Amino acid sequence: MKTSFITLILSLVALSYLSGCYYDNEEDLYGPPPPVPVCDTLQVSFANDIMPILNSAGCVGCHNSAGASGNVNLADYDNAMIPAKNGDLLSSIERDGNASFMPQGGQKLPENQIQLFRCWIDQGVLDN
Ligand code: HEC
Repeated sequence: MKTSFITLILSLVALSYLSGCYYDNEEDLYGPPPPVPVCDTLQVSFANDIMPILNSAGCVGCHNSAGASGNVNLADYDNAMIPAKNGDLLSSIERDGNASFMPQGGQKLPENQIQLFRCWIDQGVLDN
């Protein structure tokens, strides 16, 4: 009786020690989660976040009222909200295969910029 009690205590100590080690190893292996902001905590503005990317990524150069490649105009909110709402805008920059890869002839946008588009669309394609 006494022996089995001691065995039980020792097992519990061993178990907590082992699980502690396992936890440490897991952190070492996978590290902290990547810092991609979640849409709940990321308030996106069309004017301050989205429009500057459309300009700097060259989108507006090919998609404007003088030349709307693919019939897509991204020069202002009233036009950009159309492909934003029908899904083409996000598909084109995520390159998920449902739309042509954009920016055409350029590098895929960095993940943090794509996340801004996701959240802008997620939050209702606001003109803010
Ligand atoms: C060098 C010119 C050029 C640039 C830069 C460019 N596009 Fe395009 N885009 C096109 C052309 C041409 C088409 C139509 C032909 C096609 O679908 O490939 C198009 C099509 C699209 C479409 C419709 C896709 C479809 O499959 O119907 C979307 C949405 C789009 N572009 C968004 C963007 C966004 C967002 C950017 C910036 C990140 C961008 N484009 C940058 C030339 C460009």
